[in-house]
Amino acid sequence: MDRYAVIGNPIAHSLSPDIHAAFAQQTGHEIEYTRLFAEEHAFVEEAERFFDAGGRGLNVTAPFKGDAYNWVAQKDLLAEEAEAVNTIVPRSDGFHGCNTDGLGLLRDFERLNWSLEDARLLILGAGGATRGILGPLLRARAIVSVANRTVSKVTDLQGVHPSIKALPLDNIDSGWDIVINATSAAYNAEQLPFDPAILLDTRCYDLAYSRDGETAFLESARREGALVSADGLGMLVFQAAEAFKLWRGVMPEGEPVLDSLRTKKPVRRFIAGAICEQCGSVDTSFIEIDDSNEVVARGCVACNFYETADGERTVNIVDPKG
Ligand code: ATR
Repeated sequence: MDRYAVIGNPIAHSLSPDIHAAFAQQTGHEIEYTRLFAEEHAFVEEAERFFDAGGRGLNVTAPFKGDAYNWVAQKDLLAEEAEAVNTIVPRSDGFHGCNTDGLGLLRDFERLNWSLEDARLLILGAGGATRGILGPLLRARAIVSVANRTVSKVTDLQGVHPSIKALPLDNIDSGWDIVINATSAAYNAEQLPFDPAILLDTRCYDLAYSRDGETAFLESARREGALVSADGLGMLVFQAAEAFKLWRGVMPEGEPVLDSLRTKKPVRRFIAGAICEQCGSVDTSFIEIDDSNEVVARGCVACNFYETADGERTVNIVDPKG
């Protein structure tokens, strides 16, 4: 069976094996796709070991995208622009390094129906993640500004993409169609030093993702009255689809896989005639049911009692006598 892997550190959290297993099933391809952990300075050693043992392709995630860029024999334009490789394809003339992150983002914007042509687009952050998406966004004709805490990093990006405008993170005007968070602040539980009021009436995208679609940036976007918001799970799935195509020659469908990765929110059902055992009110009690019909929580909208089935969260219990 053809073997593929995603290499990173840490790697245990990676969803790529689930995504590629779903693509393989969808397209009728038989592949094995695993997680490959490498020590910080051991990328080359692990990559060589993997390919020497017959591996057919590697995805590369943090912190090794730059190491992969330096290691491969050939690079495509997107990898050159990004100075980072997230997909390695072994070919007869050596290892080819590609970067599918930016295409993944564009395909997620298509899914969301967010038009990029002439869109006033603001990217927060000027690190590796931003470098990976700038070329595709500019070629899709977005008008791009980049705001960063360290402005000199945007100046570096202007060396590759002269048309982008540089802004300091703590002094940004309003008036954006799309704002993309490409900083790593949330990974370190840090606040982004910018005025979230600029998110009013904009489309907000976070390159970070979570299974339920919630991120710190998107939460503040919603609070500030953003038009609509999306996390980067779609980008993750579509960049994987592009990698699958490079290796297997067929483009799998991303949307059903994206759907299957999302945690489904439980459905709330009220129980007619039920009396709340906490506050005694009638017709205000509910249960919450997940997609496999399991009761995951119960509560009451009158007294705000809420208890999860595993008893891990119980809130706002009102003393019925008090
Ligand atoms: P990545 O590969 O995820 O882009 P990176 O190259 O280390 O990681 O870049 C991280 C980005 O997040 C940078 O733009 C960084 O800003 P600086 O260039 O000023 O360091 C930004 N970032 C991280 N933490 C931040 C914070 N607490 N406030 C503002 N910007 C932050």
